[in-house]
Amino acid sequence: MTQLLRKITEAAAFVAQEITKAEIGIILGSGLGGLVEQVQDAKVIPYDEIPHFPIATVAGHAGRLVGGTIGGRHVVAMQGRFHYYEGYNLEEVTFPVRVMNRLGVNTLIITNAAGGLNPLFRPGDLMLISDHINFLGLNPLRGENMPELGPRFPDMTRAYDASLRQLAREKARSLAITLHEGVYVWVGGPSYETPAEVRMLQALGGDAVGMSTVPEVIVANHSGMRVLGFSCITNAAAGLGHAQLDHVEVVETAQEGGRKLQELVCEIISSL
Ligand code: HPA
Repeated sequence: MTQLLRKITEAAAFVAQEITKAEIGIILGSGLGGLVEQVQDAKVIPYDEIPHFPIATVAGHAGRLVGGTIGGRHVVAMQGRFHYYEGYNLEEVTFPVRVMNRLGVNTLIITNAAGGLNPLFRPGDLMLISDHINFLGLNPLRGENMPELGPRFPDMTRAYDASLRQLAREKARSLAITLHEGVYVWVGGPSYETPAEVRMLQALGGDAVGMSTVPEVIVANHSGMRVLGFSCITNAAAGLGHAQLDHVEVVETAQEGGRKLQELVCEIISSL
């Protein structure tokens, strides 16, 4: 039990030598890492230097923490995240969220690339996450609970903070950025869904589907953080579009949609 607490403390102490203040955490999804260019007075720490951080497996994922300010607010951004499909367990996937919390982060902005289940969504569109479906049924809080980290049975009724969502809608409107809103479904990957699975996920009430975010959001809620989440829709989910799904195209489309997301997130942070 104290093992995890010790690891969080050691990792946070190491990061705090460079990134001395952090109030807002940001997790940047595949193709969405460009936001770190907006960070002023950036301090960069590669994940592999941080004690107890998971070891990166996927080539092309940058894997570094970037601390600094955006609009005068102290942020710490994860450029590259750990996915369940890479083989990490959920304690590893969510470890950076624990470390951010220990650094002082109380607001977490999470982004991802996702397939569109909602037929109105187009590649390059942005979706504000209103709620999620944990389709894997796996939970990062499984096992003995540490009261120092949060309650045994955390409430998830407001997993995505309503006032932050309202702020996001207002800022999107003022920037003339179309912002859909909907339910994100977490699947394991790494294979994409079949068309039959996509029809099932639509029937279950999903608007977007992806391979990340939900474990981090559970841990952020457990830690008492406020969460704001965005999906960049990179493709129509399998069977809804005409094309076959291709990771390279997913990342390219995320980079395009990422520009709008960057603008929106910076504007939101500046008025937090
Ligand atoms: N399915 C799952 N994950 C994804 C997709 C998808 O269609 N697109 C980007 N991430």
